[in-house]
Amino acid sequence: MSERNTFYITTPIYYPSDKLHIGHTYSTVSADAQARYQRLKGKEVFFLTGTDEHGQKIEDKAKEAGVTPKEYVDKIVAGIKDLWKLMNISNDKFIRTTDEYHEKAVQYIFQKMYDKGDIYKGKYEGLYCKPCESFWTETQAVDGKCPDCGRPVYKAEEEAYFFKLSNYADKLVKYYEEHPGFIDPVSRQNEMVNNFIKPGLQDLCISRSSFKWGIPVPVNPDHVIYVWLDALTNYITALGYASDDDSLFKKFWPANVQSIGKDIVRFHTIYWPAFLMSLDIPCPDKVFAHGWVLLEGGKMSKSKGNVVDPVILAERYGVDALRYYLLREMAFGADGVFSNEKLIGRINSDLANDLGNLLSRTVAMVLKYFGGTIPSEREALEFDAKLIETAKTAAEKATENLDGLNYSVALTEIWKLISAANKYIDETTPWILAKDESNKAKLADVMYNLCECLRITSVLIAPFMPSTAPEIRKQLGIEGKFGWDEIFTYGEKETYSVVKGDIIFPRLDLEKELEELAAASAPAEEENPLKAEIEGIAKIDIDDFAKVDLRAAKITDCFPVKKAKKLLQLTLDVGTGEPRTVASGIAKWYKPEDLIGKTVVLVSNLKPAVLCGVESCGMILAADAGEDDVKVVFLDGVPAGSKIR
Ligand code: ME8
Ligand code: MG
Repeated sequence: MSERNTFYITTPIYYPSDKLHIGHTYSTVSADAQARYQRLKGKEVFFLTGTDEHGQKIEDKAKEAGVTPKEYVDKIVAGIKDLWKLMNISNDKFIRTTDEYHEKAVQYIFQKMYDKGDIYKGKYEGLYCKPCESFWTETQAVDGKCPDCGRPVYKAEEEAYFFKLSNYADKLVKYYEEHPGFIDPVSRQNEMVNNFIKPGLQDLCISRSSFKWGIPVPVNPDHVIYVWLDALTNYITALGYASDDDSLFKKFWPANVQSIGKDIVRFHTIYWPAFLMSLDIPCPDKVFAHGWVLLEGGKMSKSKGNVVDPVILAERYGVDALRYYLLREMAFGADGVFSNEKLIGRINSDLANDLGNLLSRTVAMVLKYFGGTIPSEREALEFDAKLIETAKTAAEKATENLDGLNYSVALTEIWKLISAANKYIDETTPWILAKDESNKAKLADVMYNLCECLRITSVLIAPFMPSTAPEIRKQLGIEGKFGWDEIFTYGEKETYSVVKGDIIFPRLDLEKELEELAAASAPAEEENPLKAEIEGIAKIDIDDFAKVDLRAAKITDCFPVKKAKKLLQLTLDVGTGEPRTVASGIAKWYKPEDLIGKTVVLVSNLKPAVLCGVESCGMILAADAGEDDVKVVFLDGVPAGSKIR
């Protein structure tokens, strides 16, 4: 990793379209651990997160909600900021792509690429995935679905501006080869080269004209800038690139680490470096793709109704416990399965038993045997050497693995020290030493070593558990600022005066917690697909509805249409004296004799259409009454021609 004394780290900027879940929380918490670690090492850190607020998806959601896009995002963004505050995220800036400075800078960027000749006007014909805001070709789509998220894509055809991405294919491959570690894990690099670059990189459509919610294209305000060009550039506009004051940009760019999820690697390792090359700006040192937090049975998704709410968990178990669990349980870069049971298991074993007990036993013993302050006269025990060695190893390995973004390995190494310290208590049996006044110096030595291990642990866990670290130090009587170099100073501290404090992680009753968690998250799981479907349908005005003329119509005659098995031809009396002909696709469920004489609901002002040779003037209403069942809506006692409204 870079030797600069500044450190710039970014998270993805999140779509404010849905409530953020445990997967997003993982993404931000992992970057936060790195930011905190770098600060402890004395680096000047800039840690950026934010929200990605433009695009068709947001415009549609706002429309459904009956508010302006800005009103829509404002509310959700406030909630996202609250979540990061709750999770103790130490970001130095929160960028919103609706911020004015960002919008201006993005227009500047577009213009600069345009002036350079990297942008041309053309026509986009292809597929679009709205949830991912990504373009696909017919061959890339899988059964009409987005190859990334599996949701349906739709045909998009519009005039558009294109970025000459194809010109950058060779440059990108060369860049990857000359900068090993730029794409991390390297397996992702192979994926990009083999799946996207080698088959031929297409030019990238970078404007849309079929909707409005975006930053206007400077050379043509009928277009808005493609949301991924808008979003990716946040990483430099947040630093003041293309503004009056670009001192942060000069100081912090290129980013040391851009941490993202594996689903957006293509955007960050193909489009993003190509944009930067076009702008003559250096590429980031590293784009790290972490895995997904999965649930038993697959990916979290709102439509599946299986999203895990980080707020419920953080409020119940504490932010540090949740942060610890996420970073310990999941190997960074790989997927991991979230489960309440494993979360509670880790809280009980690693946090309550191992760490919590070590602290409370140590503090209690120093108080009991020495009234709180460890005497300076000490005599070493045979068990000391191994413990001190373990502390050194933990310090080295934690450093190495934090540098390498291997958070779960770093935590595993730290916990080896905690276990060793607990074992040291069993080995040295302080309660037996305490029985004999002549062992006082030995007992003091044992207490000192335990406090040293706890002090070093407090620093080692600080990137992961930012509130637990100072709490441990408070109980050890060493409040105040501390840095990463402290982990290499075993034995240098003179003594400790401990202070009794609270239990840092109370033990939990697994069964009770599982039951209560199931109850607490029930409302989210209730979300049934029908509810989502109905809520998802665009609202219409009463005027829109009034355009539909519904009439009671009596079926006077009915017979099958020869050329079409599915159709019945109906003759209707609509009270006008003139018979009306309608063809209806209900032959599978009704015979003519079931229908003649019945009164139905007719959409009378539907434009006539010819169906298998029959001119159909209107349509009768029927319900999809289940899988492959249709029921015509019959009226009882309503005269033909009556208006229905
Ligand atoms: O992609 N586990 O935003 P987003 C782990 N706006 N990470 C997850 C996850 C899960 N279950 N679900 C989502 C966008 N994420 C764009 C980014 S950056 C210039 C623009 C991660 O809100 C996901 O992998 O859909 C991604 O990195 C991040 O959350 C934001 O997702
Ligand atoms: Mg996404």
